[in-house]
Amino acid sequence: MPFVPVDVLLKRAEEGQYAVGAFNCNNMEIVQAIVAAAEAERAPVILQASQGAIKYAGLDFIVAMARQAAEKASVPVALHLDHGTSFAQVMQCIRAGFSSVMIDGSKLPLEENIALTRQVLAVARAVGVSVEAELGKIGGTEDDISVADWEAMLTDPEEARYFVEQTGVDSLAIAIGTAHGRYKGEPRLDFDRLARVRSLVQVPIVLHGSSGVPDEAIRRAIALGVRKVNIDTNIREAFVAAARRVVDAHPEEIDPRKILGPAREAATEIIREKIRLFGSSGKA
Ligand code: G3H
Ligand code: 13P
Ligand code: ZN
Repeated sequence: MPFVPVDVLLKRAEEGQYAVGAFNCNNMEIVQAIVAAAEAERAPVILQASQGAIKYAGLDFIVAMARQAAEKASVPVALHLDHGTSFAQVMQCIRAGFSSVMIDGSKLPLEENIALTRQVLAVARAVGVSVEAELGKIGGTEDDISVADWEAMLTDPEEARYFVEQTGVDSLAIAIGTAHGRYKGEPRLDFDRLARVRSLVQVPIVLHGSSGVPDEAIRRAIALGVRKVNIDTNIREAFVAAARRVVDAHPEEIDPRKILGPAREAATEIIREKIRLFGSSGKA
């Protein structure tokens, strides 16, 4: 199947009250693992490429690998730019064949974030590509911050309402306490804030930094309106742990396929678990 725009998948998720998994891919094995997991679960799925992935694999390689996997798949697959940094980069991704993009203006002042998001939307709409924006600051787990600073990073619900009204964006990533990477302790999620955003904003909500968030908290976030859940770190952990097991057990092994094959299987397994957790199993 050709790539499906993310907004199509998220509209169905809204109707069915579940979330679609958005999984970061950096190489062939992870692309294959994501699509194999979606096939096994009969689930729609989002492949997403970060700045790091584009730098590592190259934009054309990412698109070619993802397209190959999607065309052979019998479940809907989207290709999404994760944390797009500029108008120019978003245009390159649209031209390369992405079905959906994120423009992350969250570090900009509100009005500049709105202006950038609108600029992207004006082009993306014309070519049927959907757009995710971000409001609030999703932390890194290295951040050592006070409670007051932590709260200041989180998305202001009134601002979210204003942002969506001003931009007409397709989906909105919000900060409610999750962080990218591994958590030091138990993540603290502000569910009241999520509920308030949901009551003011009609578009699907996106949760970043979802690896390491306890299953119960993920279920609660989905019940409160999260429709796209981003996972990267948990895939990295499963992939590398499996590769390491082979290398440790067989230090003489020099066939990369014997190392990366089990890593791909481990990645498929964790992705299947996430798909089931998000409720998107059987929704293809
Ligand atoms: O959004 C963060 C993702 O985990 C991507 O990280 O740029 O190292 O690929 P990365
Ligand atoms: P994690 O690596 O914490 O799962 O975050 C992924 C993410 O939000 C990608 O945009
Ligand atoms: Zn993210």
